[in-house]
Amino acid sequence: MNKAEQFINEKLLNRAEKGSLRKLSLKVFPIDFCSNDYLGFSRSPQLKSAVNEALLNIPQYRNGSSGSRLLSGNHAFTEETEAIIADFHHAKSGLIFNSGYDANVGLISSLAQRGDTIISDELIHASLIDGARLTHANRYSFKHNNLDDLEARLKVAKGNIYVVIESVYSMDGDLAALIEINNLCERYEANLIVDEAHALGIFGNHGHGLVQDAGLENKVFARIVTFGKALGCHGAIVLGSASLRNYLINFARTFIYSTAAPIHTIATIRSAYQMLTETDYRPLIGEKIALYSKLIDNSDIQGIFPGPGTIQTVMYNSNQKAKFAAEALQSKGIDVRAILSPTVAEGKERLRICLHLFNTDDEIKMLTDQLISLKAHE
Ligand SMILES: Cc1ncc(COP(=O)(O)O)c(C=O)c1O
Repeated sequence: MNKAEQFINEKLLNRAEKGSLRKLSLKVFPIDFCSNDYLGFSRSPQLKSAVNEALLNIPQYRNGSSGSRLLSGNHAFTEETEAIIADFHHAKSGLIFNSGYDANVGLISSLAQRGDTIISDELIHASLIDGARLTHANRYSFKHNNLDDLEARLKVAKGNIYVVIESVYSMDGDLAALIEINNLCERYEANLIVDEAHALGIFGNHGHGLVQDAGLENKVFARIVTFGKALGCHGAIVLGSASLRNYLINFARTFIYSTAAPIHTIATIRSAYQMLTETDYRPLIGEKIALYSKLIDNSDIQGIFPGPGTIQTVMYNSNQKAKFAAEALQSKGIDVRAILSPTVAEGKERLRICLHLFNTDDEIKMLTDQLISLKAHE
């Protein structure tokens, strides 16, 4: 066998032996507690017709964007949309990227230079880690949400300092100590970068996110807001100063060297923001979160504890146990997925449950009954 083939087969075998082999699946389960479509926008007929309507009114409509934004792929509609989103988030400006992954890699990798320092929470998303890995900067992580550990790193940091966090952590569903972290950043003249992927639509007035909720929109250096979660679309925006936008247009390689999103995608994003502006979904999704929390809180079983938002976790601490629990739920038609190591640290394997506006109270009750029963028989 060719050496490269041998290498990949050994790696796959190793994954299989650890019970962590990733596979694509076409299975569909009727009750969705898995997708990031927290507000049901991806399946919203209202959004679909708003997009169709918007597309009729866009001059020079093309199916594809035909190039990078710097060549033939730019459009007045895209620039207007960026301004509308920046306005919604009380930001000076914004630049759309093709995905949250692209936004994070482009932003972090272009900013931090040799001699600079990136300090990130140990639980940040892979896209932020990958962005940092592409730099020649000094890189440190601090213990999750631990201010003392962050401060210890800040004390020895050199060059331009970037502190990278998420406002809602994607796997644990807990919130950053935003105000305290911002205070530390101010004290040590560090630039705070906040990924709000899982806050949009769920936290803050009209779902504008936790940075604005804390009144920090003029203090943080940059925010990343992604459209593939509560907005039910695709893409992301980096929010910050006008100079940051210009800088990214010049230096963010994931922006420069990639075909721009088609106008259909941009119209979907704009229409989804229009829905967020017209309706405050927070009290509605808040009811679902409150119901789940109440049902779980009564159980008092180790490893199940209610989180503040739509992301909930049930800890199993082993790939096998987490997979077994997910399969048991799936056999009842409930779509819950196991999050295995190495996606999370070994010993932190879990079920990741996403609550949605479209989940009925009966579905939430069925889910929590099953979760409690599975844990009780572990
Ligand atoms: C915190 C966080 N940031 C960024 C991303 C990447 O966003 P996207 O799916 O749009 O590439 C994700 C999605 O997994 C995420 O959870």
